[in-house]
Amino acid sequence: MDFKKYLNEQCLVVEQALARYMLPEEGGALANHIKAMRYSLFAGGKRIRPILALAAAKALHAPTEHLLPVACALECIHTYSLIHDDLPAMDDDDLRRGKPTCHVVFGEAEAILAGDGLLSFAFELLSHPEARQAIPPADQLRLINLIAQAIGPKGMVGGQSLDLAAEGQAIDFAHLRLIHGCKTGALITVSVQAGAIFGQASEEQFAALSRYGVQIGLAFQIIDDLLDVEGTTENLGKTAGADAQRHKATYPAFFGVTKTKVMAHEAVEAAIAALEIFDAQAEPLRALARYIYERNN
Ligand code: IPE
Ligand code: IPE
Ligand code: MG
Ligand code: MG
Ligand code: MG
Repeated sequence: MDFKKYLNEQCLVVEQALARYMLPEEGGALANHIKAMRYSLFAGGKRIRPILALAAAKALHAPTEHLLPVACALECIHTYSLIHDDLPAMDDDDLRRGKPTCHVVFGEAEAILAGDGLLSFAFELLSHPEARQAIPPADQLRLINLIAQAIGPKGMVGGQSLDLAAEGQAIDFAHLRLIHGCKTGALITVSVQAGAIFGQASEEQFAALSRYGVQIGLAFQIIDDLLDVEGTTENLGKTAGADAQRHKATYPAFFGVTKTKVMAHEAVEAAIAALEIFDAQAEPLRALARYIYERNN
């Protein structure tokens, strides 16, 4: 397959859906709040989580159009996590997606609210009536439950808490693995699971796609750590070298660059191996796993 073409096309599908579902710019009393949300949401970004959801449904030969509100919700949740991650009280970054961070432009209070707004709006999209044209209400509810778990105290938010607490601390590998699985892996895994639910996956298929999701979620954060060491600010659209400065718990800090690359590669291979029960319709998922390893931003 022509992966570059596929990625561009899927990115466009997501961009157009986001433009359709997101609150439009307005001149009224809420103009500034909506502007702040839109500023971060439409600043670029690889749109990997929604694309993974669409690719997982495709692997199950399912149509994807009614999945779009959910795919957009995943991107809103991700964008909220980036806005809050960049806040002075957290990673204190002033560049994101190639632009000044939300709090630099809109102030800290509005950046917090823009994140809150995107998170809440995501649940409006997750419970969107359109989804019920593709899956039964019980499946929609199951998906919302899985997403709430993935981004809450035992998932993304808990992982962010562990990440901050680990700054400058000596932690063991199991703890590092836990941080990465929670702060980044959980949302990526549930993005794949969203596509699986829309594709009416059997138990076996759901388990296989979940294993794939866990492995690429881990690989994604390992490579993110690596890019912080080896990438450039220009390519990344965020400040390179920030992790070392903040004494973050990262794979390169723990294992060195060479072993980190081997471990990311192993995770990607395990992800692809988990897809062995699927046919050629899962090729985009396989290619996405390789891309997560090879990407330079
Ligand atoms: C960055 O995510 C934050 C992590 C969870 C590692 P992405 O690398 O997906 O960022 P965008 O969406 O492309 O900006
Ligand atoms: C971010 O991890 C994880 C979440 C936003 C949930 P990082 O702090 O490593 O992400 P970047 O490097 O700032 O994008
Ligand atoms: Mg962080
Ligand atoms: Mg950060
Ligand atoms: Mg990082």
